Amino acid sequence: MFRWNECSNTMMPDVVIEPMRADDLGSVQALLRAASLPVDGLDDHVSTALVARRGANLVGSVALEVYEDGALLRSLAVAKRERGFGWGMALAEAIIDLARRRGVRKVYLLTETAATFFPKLGFRAVTRAEVPSGVRRSVEFTTVCPGSAAVQVLELSTAKKNPGGYRGS
Ligand SMILES: CC(C)(COP(=O)(O)OP(=O)(O)OC[C@H]1O[C@@H](n2cnc3c(N)ncnc32)[C@H](O)[C@@H]1OP(=O)(O)O)[C@@H](O)C(=O)NCCC(=O)NCCS
Repeated sequence: MFRWNECSNTMMPDVVIEPMRADDLGSVQALLRAASLPVDGLDDHVSTALVARRGANLVGSVALEVYEDGALLRSLAVAKRERGFGWGMALAEAIIDLARRRGVRKVYLLTETAATFFPKLGFRAVTRAEVPSGVRRSVEFTTVCPGSAAVQVLELSTAKKNPGGYRGS
């Protein structure tokens, strides 16, 4: 797959979204730290995390923590130089697609920096009290995200289907 590079008028290899590998963990944690996002607990969810990469370069990341009563979307980040090209939306759509294929009915998230980004995908604000207990036991809810962070939920039956090309497991 190739994407037109308007700056140089050349074709450049496009970004691929694919499952995160164990050896991506260090570079994903560096990306998250650069974006001021927490890294705690991510190592427990590598099997439900995705990365966007162009060749050997990491463009972005996103992860899903799956609990018995819902899932938590976390660690959505795009490298600063790559922002504004749609990779954040593509990663979010891909992880929602993964959640749907895992049978998740409701995806929750906490955000301090992108509260107006997620409603474009169908997320809506909820109170912490509305979050089921399993999801609330996650590290993000219990320790790393301040009480001021916005809480949002996406009910997958009403979510926009992933129109993109990601078809990973
Ligand atoms: C949020 C983030 C992942 C978006 O990545 P991106 O690749 O720049 O986003 P896209 O290019 O797909 O943008 C899609 C739309 O969201 C908007 N958007 C981008 N970042 C946004 C933000 N932080 N808040 C609200 N809207 C945002 C864009 O303007 C664009 O809007 P449009 O469709 O009306 O033009 C990226 O800015 C980032 O890594 N931020 C730091 C980490 C962070 O805040 N993560 C989310 C916390 S859970």
